[in-house]
Amino acid sequence: MAEAAGTPLPRTVTAARGTVTLRRLGPADVDGLDALYRSLPAQDRYQRFFTEAGPTRRTLERYVALLDRPGAGVVAVAGDGSIVAEAGYARLAGGDGEFGITVAAGWRGLGTVLLDAVVALAAEAGVAGLQADVLAGNRAMLALAAKQGYALIHIPDRSVVRLIMGTDGPVPPWPAGTPSPRLLVETPAGQWRGAPAAEAAGLHVVSCRGPGSPAPGRCPVLDGRPCPLVEGCDAVVVALPAGDPARPALLRAHRRRGKRAMEHGTFGTTDPAAASVKVEACRPPTPSPF
Ligand SMILES: CC(C)(COP(=O)(O)OP(=O)(O)OC[C@H]1O[C@@H](n2cnc3c(N)ncnc32)[C@H](O)[C@@H]1OP(=O)(O)O)[C@@H](O)C(=O)NCCC(=O)NCCS
Repeated sequence: MAEAAGTPLPRTVTAARGTVTLRRLGPADVDGLDALYRSLPAQDRYQRFFTEAGPTRRTLERYVALLDRPGAGVVAVAGDGSIVAEAGYARLAGGDGEFGITVAAGWRGLGTVLLDAVVALAAEAGVAGLQADVLAGNRAMLALAAKQGYALIHIPDRSVVRLIMGTDGPVPPWPAGTPSPRLLVETPAGQWRGAPAAEAAGLHVVSCRGPGSPAPGRCPVLDGRPCPLVEGCDAVVVALPAGDPARPALLRAHRRRGKRAMEHGTFGTTDPAAASVKVEACRPPTPSPF
């Protein structure tokens, strides 16, 4: 089912269960989406909408309008005309897109091709980042997003992760409009335990897996290439395990590029007062070298 990401729509895609047509979502698809959402097992609906009840007709109409413009959506249509998968993004105020996706239970495997198609549409429209709120236990969605590559935007709710995927490669940019001071955390844990204290102290935290990322391209910094997350931050916390050889390598690479880079233990991770001291350390000095 390999497809070139930028392949024009409509096009046919051969899935394990049969052939589908992939095309742009349009205003006439409200009934088809309604039928798709009603057909889902309750748990899938919950993972998609955070409630077992599907969207109301009015919500669906608004959603389809949003995905049609200024966002974009795609649907996979089976031979009998039913919509068996949908994905799309709605434009967020800052300029990123808010991403959502559904694949009918019998058609799993289509998610990758739909995500690729939406990423291509977003890139064409100049949308650099696609954000999604995903239940922390939604392993299928997290595995799908990992194939594209993602970073986590810190939010207080631990049951949900807010991720951002880039439309221009495996490492996403900072969420559009994130103010300074921006703190990047490289941690294999996904969610960094120091994030609440850092946020309470006024830092904006994004974490990435660094060299542990399963996305193609892994960690550009270790390959001597620029990383959009590092380039866009004011400071980096390297929170890899002490014995991990990537830890000193990352610290050296960040400092060579003029970035303030701290080890996890030197940050003051759990105490908001200690973190607040670091706010100033994360602010770019004047004149800014960043
Ligand atoms: C999330 C969802 C869209 C994924 O669709 P899909 O067709 O299964 O996606 P794909 O098969 O292309 O890719 C998913 C990857 O995750 C893997 N995966 C699936 N379930 C998994 C699980 N429980 N644990 C770990 N990996 C899993 C798949 O094997 C696949 O990887 P592979 O291609 O390397 O084999 C689909 O599960 C779905 O519609 N879920 C309900 C709605 C939802 O959660 N939407 C997301 C909210 S934004």
